Amino acid sequence: MRKPFIAANWKMHKNVQESVDFVKAIKDKLPDPQKVEVGIAPQSIALHSMKQAAGKSGLKIIAQNCAAEYSGPYTGEISLRGLRDSGIDYAMLGHIERRRLFNENNKAVNKKVLAAVQMGVTPIICTDEEMVQKEINGEIHYVFSQLMSVLHGISMDQIKNVVISYEPTWAVGAGQHANPTMAEEGCRQIRRTIADVYTYEIADKIRILYGGSVNPANIKKIMGKPDVDGVLIGRASLDVDSFLQMVQHFN
Ligand code: G3H
Repeated sequence: MRKPFIAANWKMHKNVQESVDFVKAIKDKLPDPQKVEVGIAPQSIALHSMKQAAGKSGLKIIAQNCAAEYSGPYTGEISLRGLRDSGIDYAMLGHIERRRLFNENNKAVNKKVLAAVQMGVTPIICTDEEMVQKEINGEIHYVFSQLMSVLHGISMDQIKNVVISYEPTWAVGAGQHANPTMAEEGCRQIRRTIADVYTYEIADKIRILYGGSVNPANIKKIMGKPDVDGVLIGRASLDVDSFLQMVQHFN
């Protein structure tokens, strides 16, 4: 059984105080962490304070990015050492906004993924529809080369803990979410790639999240699909009530 995972991506919203206040407002109202995992990715300046505020609540704190290096002369980067020492649970890597706005490509994301798993910070690897399908002469074909270039060098043992998200570009920040069938299809294609390249047993264990305009009205249907193990939520996660409505579906 794959444990459902609800992850909030706050992007460049909320300052440190607002982030900590949010954690204080939700931490006693979260669902049982044995049954569902809940995480928040704040701006990097709030990671440490949020981790402290989360205490023993089970709330996971997620970095939105990290460098491909442990530490060193990389001005402006977020070190894996810093994340690990602050007890940060996950690092989200290759989000569509990093790719679109900061020119991150599969090779750069792969370096970060490799470094993160080696340093004991679990990656949430973000993919989009172009990484799993291609239109040729009006027909949609399944592809796996892009996803595999991000996973290059990740061993059978390491892949088991990795989380993958599927976010169709047109659904991110658009208010138009993939219908549950499309969300399922993208996540299913990713699972198929993992089964083809690793093993069926590994593919069956790995968690795949859907992201793109998830909100309290659509979360239940999207997460009801068999290959969708969780969601990555942007805008609808910024408000305490909306956030709690979504996570409490799983109480
Ligand atoms: O990481 C989250 C995604 O970019 C989705 O954002 O829920 O605002 O569409 P959104």
